[in-house]
Amino acid sequence: MRHLLSMHDLDRDEVLQLLDTAASMHDVQRREVKKLPTLRGRTVVNLFFEDSTRTRSSFEIAGKWLSADVINISAKGSSVSKGESLRDTVLTVAAMGVDGLVIRHQASGATLQVSKWIDAVVINAGDGMHEHPTQALLDAYTIRHRLGDLEGRHIAIVGDLTHSRVLRSNLICLKTLGARVTLVAPPTLMPSGIDGWAAKDGFDTSYDLDAVLPTVDGAMMLRVQRERMSGGFFPTAREYTVGYGLTRERLELLPDHAVIAHPGPMNRGLEIAADAADSARSLILDQVSAGVAVRMAVLYHALAGEQGVGERELVEGKSV
Ligand code: NCD
Repeated sequence: MRHLLSMHDLDRDEVLQLLDTAASMHDVQRREVKKLPTLRGRTVVNLFFEDSTRTRSSFEIAGKWLSADVINISAKGSSVSKGESLRDTVLTVAAMGVDGLVIRHQASGATLQVSKWIDAVVINAGDGMHEHPTQALLDAYTIRHRLGDLEGRHIAIVGDLTHSRVLRSNLICLKTLGARVTLVAPPTLMPSGIDGWAAKDGFDTSYDLDAVLPTVDGAMMLRVQRERMSGGFFPTAREYTVGYGLTRERLELLPDHAVIAHPGPMNRGLEIAADAADSARSLILDQVSAGVAVRMAVLYHALAGEQGVGERELVEGKSV
């Protein structure tokens, strides 16, 4: 793996290999001493132009547990706020001898563009409304951990689909792993051109959450992204919740084994009720925990190369 810009960069075997490595990393995460020497001497920069809690800190922890030197740069507090262009910022960071650049940017396609400007490995930590591949990998990891193989499993992705990079990466990832996917949203938040896309990539769409929930193995609730909305996409928050929120009443519609996921941050009471978010079937904190393991796996495959610690040593565990 060179860069990780899109879930399209990975075929089924590569996804499974990453998830296997993540499982080894998850074991490391449970040890008292978590540090592995794998990326000693490598430098990873987290360059974040958009807000983040989970993604930025889990990439930081992941890099540190692999013994990389990790530096965080956010737009606020950097020369970006003085008007520096993306290209100049990236070239400046790269000129310091960085090995890996983890980047989040508000423009769709920004990370692909960055990968053409520099030699360092580029990992997409979310580019506008385009993709967020490590989120999809950690979601797949978490759901598989609870449900087993995803082949033939039915996952509903529900909510603000139009503005969601998580949707795009998850759709590709879940289809790559053989899952059946149904997208559920109000008509105003269903991406335009969805019918052609659905026919091409083989997934279903619905406006009726109550009809879909009894048929799923997992419901992935997506945040209503008010910061990306320029107009009114639904009349009131209350109406959104009535139609598309995972409310306490709707929990009853789920089969007993079905799980609930949400990438966070959540709008509690809007797209997901506290009863759902905090229920035994909720994977939300498992997703956060898997986020570190999956990002360790991604950094390992992208940066360790031949000098890295082999998979066997990882499993057997050589902490420093
Ligand atoms: C997502 C993101 O930033 O795209 N969050 C995340 O990475 N955990 C989803 C969101 O912001 O709603």
